[in-house]
Amino acid sequence: MMERVVEAKTRTRFTRPLLQWYQAAGRDLPWRKNTDPYTVWVSEIMLQQTQVTTARPYFDRFLSVFPTVFDLAKADLDKVLKLWQGLGYYARARHLHQAAQKIVAQFSGKIPATLEGLCDLPGIGRSTAGAILTIAFGQRYPILDGNVRRVLCRFFAIEEDPREKAVEAWLWTCSEKLMPRRHESGDYLQAIMDLGATVCTPKRPNCGDCPVGPHCSARQLGLQQELPCKIPRKTIPHYDYFAGLLSCEDSVLIHQRPLTGLLAGLWEFPGSRLEGELKEGTMLSCFESFFQKEINQTIKHARLCMSIRHVFTHFKMTLHVFSAEIKTPVPVKIPLKWVKRPALSDYAFSAAHQKIISRLPDLDNRPSLF
Ligand code: ADE
Repeated sequence: MMERVVEAKTRTRFTRPLLQWYQAAGRDLPWRKNTDPYTVWVSEIMLQQTQVTTARPYFDRFLSVFPTVFDLAKADLDKVLKLWQGLGYYARARHLHQAAQKIVAQFSGKIPATLEGLCDLPGIGRSTAGAILTIAFGQRYPILDGNVRRVLCRFFAIEEDPREKAVEAWLWTCSEKLMPRRHESGDYLQAIMDLGATVCTPKRPNCGDCPVGPHCSARQLGLQQELPCKIPRKTIPHYDYFAGLLSCEDSVLIHQRPLTGLLAGLWEFPGSRLEGELKEGTMLSCFESFFQKEINQTIKHARLCMSIRHVFTHFKMTLHVFSAEIKTPVPVKIPLKWVKRPALSDYAFSAAHQKIISRLPDLDNRPSLF
C-alpha cells in the first residue's frame, strides 16, 4: 500500500460538502427519529448486509413488538425469528436476542457505551459498534461498512484490493480522519452511508449529483465504475436436497434446525442432502429410509411434487419436495413437531421452505407432477 496522507484540506473538500448535502438530501428514516441506543442498535444490525428499503418495514414491526431491550430479552427465540423471516442472515436475529439477554442480565438493561463493551456482545463488530457509539451516544468513532469502503476507495482512487490488511487499515484511519467534531459525527456517518446507498452506488454511480464529486479522484480518472476493485467470485457448488411433506389428517410434520450453523433455529420440512444418483426412484428410497429412521414409520405412496432452486452465499441448492400421507399420527419429540396447516404461519421458515408453503394450496388441487 502506497503511503497516503489524508490532508487537512480534505475535510473541507469532503466532510463539509457531505454534511451540507445531508442537511438538504438526507433520507427521513424511522431510526433517525431519536437516538435511543436500543433503537439505533436494532437498526444497525438490520442494516448489516440489508438495504434500507428492505429493512424499514421489519424495523417498524420489530420495534412495535419489542419496544425495549427488556421485551426482546424475555421473548421466545421463535418469535424473534418469525419477525426476522425473509430478512436473511438469521444469525443476526439470534445474536440480537442473546445480546439483549446479556444486556439485561449484566448491565441492568443499559446498552454499553464503550467500544470494548459493545464488541463483546454477539453480532457487533468494530464498524457496528462505531455507528452505535457515534449515532446513539454522541461519541466520535469511525465506521467501515460496504458503503463507506466504496465511497472512500473512489474518492481517493484506491486501486488495491480494499480487503487487504494494509489497505483496510488505511481506510479505517482515513474514515476516522475525515470525521468532523463530535457533535456533527452522527450526522456525518449517516451522510456517508446515504451517499453510498443513493449516489455513489455500486453500479452506475450518479456522479452528477455527488456533493464531493468535484474532488473525487476516481471520477477525475474515469475509474468510478471500476473501483473498488472487484474480487473475482469463486464459483459456488451445487447440492441436491430433499424435503418431505408428511401429512396426517390436517397436520404436517416440521423440524427445527439446530441452534447453530446455517439457518439456525429456523423451521423446515424434514429432509436431508441427497447423495448419488438423482433418479426419482433413488430419491424416493432416500425419502422412505429417512422417515423410517427419524420417526420409525414406513411411508408408502410418496410422490415428487415440486423442485425448488435456491441460492445461498456459499452454495446453490435444488430442493426436491416429496409428499406423503400417513393415517395415524406418530408421536414425535422436538425438534420434530406436528402442526396444523393454518398454524404453519406461526413458525419462521427459511426462504426455500416458505416457497413450499406458498405452493401448498396448488398442491392440494393437483395430481403428482410425475
Ligand atoms: N446502513 C447502516 N446504518 C445505516 C443508517 N443508520 N442509515 C442508513 N443506512 C445505514
